[in-house]
Amino acid sequence: MELITVREIFAQPDAYMDKEVTVGGWIRSIRDSKTFGFIVLSDGTSFEPIQVVYHDTMENFAEISKCNVGTALIVKGTLVATPQAKQPFEIQAVTVTVEGASTPDYPLQKKRHSMEYLRTISHLRPRTNTFQAVFRVRSLIAFAIHQFFQEKGFVYVHTPLITGSDCEGAGEMFQVTTMDLNNIPKTEDGKVDYSQDFFGKPTNLTVSGQLNGETYAMAFRNIYTFGPTFRAENSNTTRHAAEFWMIEPEMAFADLNDDMKLAEEMLKYVIRYVLEKAPKEMEFFNSFIDKGLLDRLNHVLNSEFGHVTYTEAIEILEKHNDKFDYKVSWGCDLQTEHERYLTEEIFKRPVFVTDYPKEIKAFYMKQNEDGKTVAAMDCLVPGIGEIIGGSQREDDYTKLTERMKELGLNEEDYGFYLDLRKYGSARHAGFGLGFERCVMYLTGMGNIRDVIPFPRTVNNCDI
Ligand code: 4AD
Ligand code: MG
Repeated sequence: MELITVREIFAQPDAYMDKEVTVGGWIRSIRDSKTFGFIVLSDGTSFEPIQVVYHDTMENFAEISKCNVGTALIVKGTLVATPQAKQPFEIQAVTVTVEGASTPDYPLQKKRHSMEYLRTISHLRPRTNTFQAVFRVRSLIAFAIHQFFQEKGFVYVHTPLITGSDCEGAGEMFQVTTMDLNNIPKTEDGKVDYSQDFFGKPTNLTVSGQLNGETYAMAFRNIYTFGPTFRAENSNTTRHAAEFWMIEPEMAFADLNDDMKLAEEMLKYVIRYVLEKAPKEMEFFNSFIDKGLLDRLNHVLNSEFGHVTYTEAIEILEKHNDKFDYKVSWGCDLQTEHERYLTEEIFKRPVFVTDYPKEIKAFYMKQNEDGKTVAAMDCLVPGIGEIIGGSQREDDYTKLTERMKELGLNEEDYGFYLDLRKYGSARHAGFGLGFERCVMYLTGMGNIRDVIPFPRTVNNCDI
C-alpha cells in the first residue's frame, strides 16, 4: 500500500493536485448530511490536518458516518483545490476503509480539555493539537542541539546512568539496588552489607553526567552529553521533574566567559532553528498558549544576554525584598521568585548570574581570588528562572582536595576525577541545560509535566 503523508501534501500540493492520493490517519472530527460528509483527518505528520469529503455513492457510506472520533482510516481519493474554503485543498474520497474503529467513550472529543485532565491520559494526549505541537518541537530542539554541537566538532559522549558518586553533592539520589528491601543483608556491626549488592557498593541513578564528561573533555577537548538524569527532589513545582534530560557540554582550555558565550550561542541557535522549522506550531503556541511568545523569542535573537554578578544581583533584589515571600541577603540561594524578578522585571531578557558564594555551589567549581565566591554561572530566562547551571571547574589539585575535605567527600571515591588534575590538568568549563526547561521556554508551556511524554514527579509514575 503506497501511503503518502499529509506532510508531503502540504509541502508540495501542486505535485499532487487532481491526482489520486492515499493517506492513513485518525478522525479528529466528523459530520455528515444526508448525501455526503466531512472528516477532518490527522495523520500526525503535519500540524495541519486534512479535510476529506465522502459521498453516499460509496457503498459503506452509512458505516463511515457512524465512525467515532479517533477511528483509524485509510482514505483513497483525489486531491482537489478549494480556493474559497479555509483549507486550500481537500481529498474527494473514492474509498474510505476503516482500519480500526474507536469506541464512543474515546476520551478526546472535539471540545478543549484542561491540561490537568490530559495529564491523566498521557498515552492519548499526543493526539491533541497542543501535544502534537509540543512533541514535534521537542524533537526538533533535540536535533538542533545535536546539530549545534556537531557542527562545532564537539564529541557526543554517552555517560552512564548508574553511578557511584553524587555529582552535585545535594544527596537527592535514587538508589539502585538488587537487594531484597524486605530482608536487607547486614554486617556484624548492623550496617547495610553492600558487598552482597550487585555492584558491591552503594550506587544510584545519575544526577548529572558532568564528572564523567570532564574525563572525556580532557581527551577530546570539546564534548557534550545528552541524556536522562534523575533527582529525588521532593519539590512539587511546575519546573521540577524526578526524571529529566540534560545537555552538558564541557570544554578544555576554556574559562567562564567561553562557557557563557557557548550557552548564549546555543540558545539562540536553537530558537532560530525552531522558528524556521516549525512555524505553524510556534504560531499555535503564540495564539493559544503564551501570547507574546514570538515577540519575546525574536527579541532574544536581537539582543545580548544580560550579565550580573551574584553580589550585584543581591544588591538589586534587596531593594525589592517587600515583594518576595523569601527575603534575600548575601549568602542565600536564589529562589524562583528572585530569578524570575531579575530576568522579567530588571533585565527583561535572559541573564547570566555569575560568581555565587562557594557555600551554595558544588565542590568542583573553581574558587575565585576573593576566597568567598566561585566561577559559577546560572542562565535565567523569563517565565522559568534557571534554565542553565554551569561553571569553570577547579583545576588545581590542592585546592580541589582541600575543598573536598571541607565538605567531607571521600577522596577514594573521586580518584578518577583527581587524576584529571594530576595528569595534564587544564582550565576547563561546562554547563548543564535542563532540556525540559528549554522546551518550556521555547513553547511557552507552563508546566514541566506537559513537555515530557510521561512525566515522573512526586507520587506520579503512572505510565
Ligand atoms: O544546575 P544543575 O544542578 O547543574 C548540574 O547538574 C551541573 N552538573 C551542570 C554542569 O555544569 N555540567 O542542573 C542543570 C540544569 C538546571 O539549570 C535546570 O535547568 C535543570 O538542569 N534541572 C532540572 N530540570 C528539571 N527538573 C529538575 N529536578 C531539575 N534539576 C535541574
Ligand atoms: Mg543549578
